[in-house]
Amino acid sequence: MRVEMKNISKSFGTNEVLKGVDITINGGEIHALMGENGAGKSTLMNILTGLHEQNSGEIVVDGTTVKYDNPKEAEVKGISFIHQEMINWPEMSIKENLFLNKEIKNNFGLVDDKKMYEETQSYLKQLNIKDIDPNELVGNLTVGQQQMVEIVKSLMTDCQILIMDEPTAALSDKEVDVLFKVIRDLKDKGVGIVYISHRMEEVFALCDVITVMRDGLSIDTVNISDTNTDEVVRKMVGRSITDYYPEKTSTIGDTIFEVKNLSAKDGMYENINFSVKAGEIVGFSGLMGAGRSEIMKGIYGLYELESGQIYLEDNELKISTPEKSIKNGIGFLTEDRKTEGLILDFTLTDNVTLPSIDGFSKNGLVDEKTEKEFAQLMIKRLLIRAQSENDIVGQLSGGNQQKVVLAKWIGVGPKVLILDEPTRGVDVGAKREIYQLMNELADRGIAIIVVSSDLPEVLGISDRIIVIHEGKIAGELDKKEANQEDIMTLATGGTLNE
Ligand SMILES: Nc1ncnc2c1ncn2[C@@H]1O[C@H](COP(=O)(O)OP(=O)(O)OP(=O)(O)O)[C@@H](O)[C@H]1O
Ligand SMILES: [Mg+2]
Repeated sequence: MRVEMKNISKSFGTNEVLKGVDITINGGEIHALMGENGAGKSTLMNILTGLHEQNSGEIVVDGTTVKYDNPKEAEVKGISFIHQEMINWPEMSIKENLFLNKEIKNNFGLVDDKKMYEETQSYLKQLNIKDIDPNELVGNLTVGQQQMVEIVKSLMTDCQILIMDEPTAALSDKEVDVLFKVIRDLKDKGVGIVYISHRMEEVFALCDVITVMRDGLSIDTVNISDTNTDEVVRKMVGRSITDYYPEKTSTIGDTIFEVKNLSAKDGMYENINFSVKAGEIVGFSGLMGAGRSEIMKGIYGLYELESGQIYLEDNELKISTPEKSIKNGIGFLTEDRKTEGLILDFTLTDNVTLPSIDGFSKNGLVDEKTEKEFAQLMIKRLLIRAQSENDIVGQLSGGNQQKVVLAKWIGVGPKVLILDEPTRGVDVGAKREIYQLMNELADRGIAIIVVSSDLPEVLGISDRIIVIHEGKIAGELDKKEANQEDIMTLATGGTLNE
């Protein structure tokens, strides 16, 4: 199959999002689509699959002009789209999610549960997910596993063109390897793949061609072998970026935060002990599902604890709810912005001021002017691409939503800030801005904990790295001695020979 999108334009109200984009997707080719947050990547693919209608321009499939009225129709015609935001039903099982509206019936016309169970199992196996029951509720899976379920859904459709919008944002390195194998197999079968990603290494490892978008325009399409990272970055942001990880110069003070013998009620983690100093950034590394997010949720009051103590500035905190944590000076940016981070139909201002609303109130009245100024400041600092602070958050691009989540916690002025995958889905330029901001928060004496599955990132920003393996601390590395190899060794249950 060959898909040509020609001179595609699209506006939402007065917001001109696409201004004449050209892209050609060929079968048997992996085509990277890169560009800053809000450049229009997802919108372009939404138009291809009939979720939105273009204002002008043409879509030509194998020589014939087409227009799909909805994603279902596109899928039937062989174009499948794995969205950036997952659209699974958490209250339903994996099997039910996969076979929703396409149940397998037996010869008697009855739903063949056994067959669906077995097929689900075989798909999960194909993606190297062996120990999860097809009847497990999707809501109980890790974000990475949920992403795999999304991928299975597309594999089931027998597509000719497969669009993946940041498929690895929530995957561990191991899961990424499995996914790449699946993608390469599809390519060998002649499937054309559109691969949207902010991860440069992945694009160069996996893709054949790359199209870079900037501000609603397709800037260039070239063979991957004819370009390099610096060139791609320059085309994306319109300038060069030299140091990806800005130097951190904060003075590190005394220990202000300490966790002792923390264990989860369900056994997800045991006996976690660590401390963080004022002005220090401590990175938490480990494989997806190792329990890092659950530890942070336990500290914050979102995950039931069996035992353990938490100390802030030598006072023991009795954590039971997120409200108490916020009051006590602990901020938490969750990894799953869709369910825990944002209120999608609220404005940007409402979202960024939500946890700190007391700080914006005088005599019980909300100070709207200060709120507005704060939101505007955050838009400027974090390069949030929005028309204004009154934009509805659900209409921002994925990466820009992530920046809003971060802005929320900056307003609170916490003493300890826990960030779970803070740069997921964020473009290179804005990532650097977020690191810079973290350094500034550290300068103010805030203790920062960062959970990140991006190894270069953990190494680039942390003063110290704690590695978690199967719910236990596998080791601790100082910035000076840490390297990718050692982290991976610890994360996979190995020991370092010194
Ligand atoms: N339904 C919508 N209503 C209004 N504006 C929208 C809508 N969908 C997208 N936009 C706007 O279109 C622009 C492009 O968004 P899009 O999601 O295509 O960006 P993107 O390149 O995928 O970015 P990211 O890397 O952050 O995912 C953004 O400014 C966004 O706010
Ligand atoms: Mg997008």
